[in-house]
Amino acid sequence: METMEFYLNTETCSQCGICVNICPALVIEKDSSGRVNFKPDYIHLCLGCGQCMAVCSTKSVFAKGLRYDNDFFEFSDTTDFFSLLEHRRSVRRFKPKPVSREEIEKILYAVSQAPHGDSHHHVEVTIINNRNTIMEALPSMSSFFDSLGKWLHNPFMCQIIKFKKGKDTLKTLKNHLLPRIEKGIYRNYSSDYDGITRGAHTLLIFHAPADSEEHKEDSYIFVTYAALAAQALGLGATIIGLVPAALNKSAELREIFHIPHNHDSVASLIVGYPKYKYLRGIKRELKKVNWGIE
Ligand SMILES: Cc1cc2nc3c(=O)[nH]c(=O)nc-3n(C[C@H](O)[C@H](O)[C@H](O)COP(=O)(O)O)c2cc1C
Repeated sequence: METMEFYLNTETCSQCGICVNICPALVIEKDSSGRVNFKPDYIHLCLGCGQCMAVCSTKSVFAKGLRYDNDFFEFSDTTDFFSLLEHRRSVRRFKPKPVSREEIEKILYAVSQAPHGDSHHHVEVTIINNRNTIMEALPSMSSFFDSLGKWLHNPFMCQIIKFKKGKDTLKTLKNHLLPRIEKGIYRNYSSDYDGITRGAHTLLIFHAPADSEEHKEDSYIFVTYAALAAQALGLGATIIGLVPAALNKSAELREIFHIPHNHDSVASLIVGYPKYKYLRGIKRELKKVNWGIE
């Protein structure tokens, strides 16, 4: 039974609906009679992230062939660095409680300790600690992704994207983003949830002058430090690639967030208090390790 790709054990399911809320791809729903169900026409969007299973108190939900006995582990009480890494998840559902300035300053302190490729790095961090400002930007971001969806159906535009951004980016856009755009995941937004910034109240944007050396590498390292610092503070965070993608294409968005027009936005991080508790860890492995010659 446990090896089925997508399965809900209706005999044990408590119908709490946490899996519905935590799923980043909206693959699970409460149907019109209030029963938890997988949505057959969304299943192809499943990331296999395992979050639905990591929060299920009755181990009733099974996604993408994952197994409780094989793909998850029980948390230990250790609080060392490795345990911090194992406990971290991309958190996309937050309590309505704002993150304090002191907490953001601690995150920024962690970022300031990160390695950087250029001795005088140029990466700036812009902090939007206000859901209303994020809400102001959502209609523009959402319409950007609608336009992108149309371009991705146009072979000529695809050639331009491939030429400007590379074959790998075009593949990500077509395989990962387009199916979500087509399901309207980025079109729906309200004050407490949206498919882009996930209802977050706090958004950190990492950007630098477009011609500055190694700013992309530095930004990714900085955002990773910020995500781990958030975890260490008991906050939750997720790296959001959608926000910089939209910012780099929209002067209006750059104005809302006060990002200089000559800057390249590379990464962003949503931060907040996690709404749900993960009950178990999700095992992660590297694809392949080559030991070479020892
Ligand atoms: C460069 C990058 C961009 C990402 N962009 C998004 C995003 O736009 N939206 C989102 O919900 N998650 C985004 N993520 C989070 C990944 O989906 C997440 O890390 C992955 O599913 C693994 O889950 P975990 O972080 O819980 O281990 C991004 C992660 C990275 C590294």
